[in-house]
Amino acid sequence: MAVLLDGKALAADIRAEIRLQVQSDIARFGTTPHLVVILIGDDPASQSYVRGKENACLKAGIRSTVLRESQTISEEALLQIIDRLNADPGVHGILLQLPIPRNLNADRIISRIDVRKDVDGFTPENVAALAGGKPGMVPCTPLGVMRLLEKYSIGIQGKHCVVVGRSPIVGKPMAWLFLKDNGTVTICHSKTTDLPSITRQADILVVAVGQPGMITEEHVKNGAVVIDVGISKINDEIRGDVDFDAVFPLASHITPVPGGVGPMTIACLLENTLKCYRRLMESGR
Ligand code: GUN
Repeated sequence: MAVLLDGKALAADIRAEIRLQVQSDIARFGTTPHLVVILIGDDPASQSYVRGKENACLKAGIRSTVLRESQTISEEALLQIIDRLNADPGVHGILLQLPIPRNLNADRIISRIDVRKDVDGFTPENVAALAGGKPGMVPCTPLGVMRLLEKYSIGIQGKHCVVVGRSPIVGKPMAWLFLKDNGTVTICHSKTTDLPSITRQADILVVAVGQPGMITEEHVKNGAVVIDVGISKINDEIRGDVDFDAVFPLASHITPVPGGVGPMTIACLLENTLKCYRRLMESGR
């Protein structure tokens, strides 16, 4: 029987704290923090995530603007939008909602975001900082996972941390964060042979693949901590990558879906936005 890692409750606490900090920062700096999200096309999942981010900002007292752009926008036009936002002293955070259409070069566009406004931690400078174990902006989802583990006093040092999924948004930064905290890290992916034999070694198992129910009892050892980053919509129901009912009796701790990692991602986005804003204000911009 596992302990539920309640991301919804922890995220609510973090958001309440950020709201207080935003109020005092507005009084101190005389400017409201402002996050601009660029949303391209009409993918329903991205629209729903962006709505969640927008709502959370407003409740925290952070100004939020969503630039909704057509699926057919050119790369040049997008780069011009980013240049304009970089130069705007009233904008403190810029987030390009992913995925973007295939004809656009995501790496080139993300590289154009001013590192000081990179609330996602996706620019090359922030990626290099994290990989090098140096301070920088940390991507929101893996940061949310670390906060959740911390809250439940789950240490990383000496643990075998197995990450399933190698995306630049979750898998890779997750692995670097575990490594920084002295975990022993294994990254698995779609070409890994005999996945269960590796995931069964995990003290902490993080799954970020997007294949509902792929992790079953054969993948998990007794007493493991299981973190489910997957969010898939099936028949109007949100499902994670972990077969919750099968794994719950084995795990020591497990995140529910929904209500686990998802709300933590949003709370950490607010935290990162506040961090970018403060740095810009303190540096006189
Ligand atoms: N799409 C899915 N997750 C994320 C995220 O954390 N940031 C951005 N920008 N897009 C995403």
